[in-house]
Amino acid sequence: MNITINGETKHMRAVWFEDNSVKMIDQKKLPDRVEIYTATNTHEVAHAIREMIVRGAPAIGVTAAYGLALAKLKNEDIEEAVEELSNTRPTAFDLFKAISYMKKNGFSKKAADRYSNEITGRSKKIGEYGDDLIRDHSRILTHCNAGALAVVDWGTALSPIRVAHRKGKNIVVFVDETRPRLQGSTLTAWELLQEGIEHYIIADNASGYFMRNGDIDLVIVGADRIVSNGDFANKIGTYEKAVLAKENGIPFYVAAPGSTFDFSLENGDKIPIEERSQEEVLEFRGVRAAPIGSKSRNPAFDVTPARYVTGYITEYGIFQSGNLKSLKKLIDKDLFMRM
Ligand code: MRU
Repeated sequence: MNITINGETKHMRAVWFEDNSVKMIDQKKLPDRVEIYTATNTHEVAHAIREMIVRGAPAIGVTAAYGLALAKLKNEDIEEAVEELSNTRPTAFDLFKAISYMKKNGFSKKAADRYSNEITGRSKKIGEYGDDLIRDHSRILTHCNAGALAVVDWGTALSPIRVAHRKGKNIVVFVDETRPRLQGSTLTAWELLQEGIEHYIIADNASGYFMRNGDIDLVIVGADRIVSNGDFANKIGTYEKAVLAKENGIPFYVAAPGSTFDFSLENGDKIPIEERSQEEVLEFRGVRAAPIGSKSRNPAFDVTPARYVTGYITEYGIFQSGNLKSLKKLIDKDLFMRM
């Protein structure tokens, strides 16, 4: 992604390997400032994933891949490193895909680079295929952040939006703020600003209003795990958007690379859902916003049943809901995807 800091524009990935360490844009510091977090051992990489310094399913996978390359370079116990990284975030399937890829490829730095480059190339293809769904003057709703920050480059849901904009289509993006961690207002909006794409940040509970008023033509979201029957997990609140889109006759697409598809699970009920700390809900950017004594429940993801999905935008093309068998065949044949 191109980032402009103090008038100077440079191309940056969200995560990379440099000077025997894993480096990443610290997403907790955005949009206030671009700061780099440096991890010099497995514990620091695991900390970055757990604490959401880096987040988004494909970016979590790439970070874990580099984390394992780092563990090998530093002669750490690889089994322990695998165990520690596997236990950081349970929902994002890319994490497990990346760990399996690194196991098969000897935990080398070269393999981690390959993994990162593959994910980047595939996210660009998602953009090229997904661009076909976007017309001039489309008004698109997205939830959470599924941009370059969440993928390493390009994005999943934001990749078609980026491509459409670069082709000169006039588009407007409605960005759900995405409580409690505000990935929409702090990260998606920041990426859209960097790219010069017109957008409105809306409160999470405002999307029904805009859909019903005819202000949204298309919804595109990312995914943390998509299973055999097409059910998928994504940031909490996605399910509501999908139901509302169907109610209002608006196409609802899920954009994700093959590494997010988990065909070992039959349906969405089997997806492990991470529950995060109560403070994320009871506080707003670190300031208590609820009575002392009130408790909270804080699932980080929800599952949207396949019947609400119009189609899946992948690097292999766009697949209509209910037609994942042909996609499974392509993923099974893809050497990079073998676990
Ligand atoms: O908790 P997060 O911020 O890691 O959740 C991220 C999401 O839900 C994204 O929509 C998903 O990972 C797709 S990212 C390309």
